[in-house]
This record gives sequence, C-alpha cells and structure tokens, in this order.
Amino acid sequence: MIWERVEKCKTFVEPFCGSAAVTLAAPAGAFHHSIVNDLDPLVANVWRALKYKPDEVARAIDMPMDHIQIHAIRHALEDKRVEIVAKMLFDPEWCDPEWAGRVCYQLSCYIGSEALEHYDAPRSLPEGVPHAVPSIANPRTISSVKGSGKRSFDGSRYRDWFLDLATRLSQCAVTCCDWTRLIKRMEAEGSVVFFDPPYSVKERVKTYSFDSFDVAGKVREWCVKNQRARWIYTGYDTECEPLAATTGSDLHRWKTNGGYAHQKMNGRGMANSKRECLVFSPAFT
Ligand SMILES: C[S@@+](CC[C@H](N)C(=O)[O-])C[C@H]1O[C@@H](n2cnc3c(N)ncnc32)[C@H](O)[C@@H]1O
Repeated sequence: MIWERVEKCKTFVEPFCGSAAVTLAAPAGAFHHSIVNDLDPLVANVWRALKYKPDEVARAIDMPMDHIQIHAIRHALEDKRVEIVAKMLFDPEWCDPEWAGRVCYQLSCYIGSEALEHYDAPRSLPEGVPHAVPSIANPRTISSVKGSGKRSFDGSRYRDWFLDLATRLSQCAVTCCDWTRLIKRMEAEGSVVFFDPPYSVKERVKTYSFDSFDVAGKVREWCVKNQRARWIYTGYDTECEPLAATTGSDLHRWKTNGGYAHQKMNGRGMANSKRECLVFSPAFT
C-alpha cells in the first residue's frame, strides 16, 4: 500500500525507523537514497553492523531460544548502550556486531513491552528465570523465521539474508537523533517522510527503551503545518482520524497480523490490530 502510493521519490525518510520495515520493503529503484533514524543508539548499531559486518551479526544472532540468555542480554543492555553510543560517536565505521546480533535475537523472542520488563535482581529463583517467558506458543524468533532446518549455529543460514539487507542499506544514511533535528532537512522537494512514532494512547504500557507518549502528538502538529510536504503518518484510529479530518488527507485502515495480534488468546492485541491506520498527506493527491 505505501509503496503503491509513493511509487518513486528522491529521498525516503523514516525518522522513527525501529526495524525500518517500510524502507527495507521498498521495491528496487523506489528511492534514490533514504535516511533511517531512531533515537535508540542500539538500533543505529544494528544497521551499522549489518552494513559493515553482516557475517559477524549473523554469527552472533545464531543461537537457540534460551530463556536465561535472553534475561542476561536484557540486563547487560543498559550499560552496553552507553558504551556503544560513545564509540559510535567518534568513529563513523565503528560498530559492535556481537551486540547487534544479541539485540535482534532478544527482541525477536518477545513482543512489545515484554522485552523491556525490568527486574533488579534474580528474585524468583528457584521458581524460574525472573523475566517473562518468551513467545514459545507461537514462536516467531529469528531462528524459527529464517533458515529453520539448518542447525549450523555458525550464522551461515542467515548469510544471504543479511547480505541482502546490507545491500539494501547501501543506499541508506543511518542517523541517531530526535526526529525534530532530522525533519528540518526533509522539506526539500522530492522527499517522502514516513512517521511511525510510539502511540500516544494512554492505555498502553512502556514499549520502547526510548519511549514517549507525547512525541506522536508533536508529529501530528508538524503534519498539520506541513500539508504541502509528502508525509505518511501511521498510528491508531483515535490518532489518525482527527489528523485526516483536519488536513483533508486520505485515511486507510489496515489490520496487523504480527505482534500481539498474532497471539489469538490476547484480546487486547486482537482489538488493537483493527485500529491501525495510515494517513497520506494532501500532497499525495
Ligand atoms: C513504533 S516504533 C517504529 C517501528 C518501525 N516502523 C519498524 O518498522 O520497526 C517507534 C520508534 O521510535 C523511536 N523513537 C522514540 N522517540 C523518538 C524520537 N523522539 N526521535 C526518534 N525516534 C524515536 C523508538 O526508539 C522506536 O524504535
């Protein structure tokens, strides 16, 4: 849907890129170059490592789902984040492929806020590991999604996939800043901006390491002021309907089939999966 509407553009920008799903789904030749940005430096490390050291990321990611390992990664992450950003800031090619792989592995074992649940100490032993049980009923880990059947654990089953991602990223700039700093540069003609900020709805729990309940409202204010720019905004119906009405933009409803929506038992996920919308700015018509 997004790429059908965009067709081609000079610059495609994802200021809240996370896994950069939309940029990576672009058909060949859809943009001349792109900018993927996220405030979380660990996301930038993943992209940088995929670009420069895809084989090493593949090796680091290649492990079976291990509840205790996931727990250990989660706890070591906070200190690592500081160390990684300090090094990335002073060397444009520095990256930590080992931690890039671990972060992807850890996130692929959980959905939403479960990955961030915090425990100060291993308090529930001997009952078990004090962290939410990974998604075992409906496993969607990186090891079950890609290359199942090949049990090498040396990364070779991910090699082609990661090389493909690295190739796609060769046309991307990866930045790590607040979206407002990035947006100043994207009013230029030929740009398309895809906004997927953290939901502003109050009833959700903290989901990202760099989360915010306010940023989505500020993005929508920017969209209202910049109706001549080609922007796409995604969020829940309660966020998108007023934006579409105020700007006279096209609104499209769509249904997720991943995340919580994937878990049939989870009523909240099922309900929210039907609330997703996309708004295309008036400049698209
Ligand atoms: C809804 S997720 C984006 C998901 C993404 N579309 C994908 O394909 O995975 C929102 C992202 O915004 C990032 N973020 C939160 N506040 C931000 C800010 N002020 N500027 C830039 N990124 C921010 C979070 O770290 C998170 O990765």
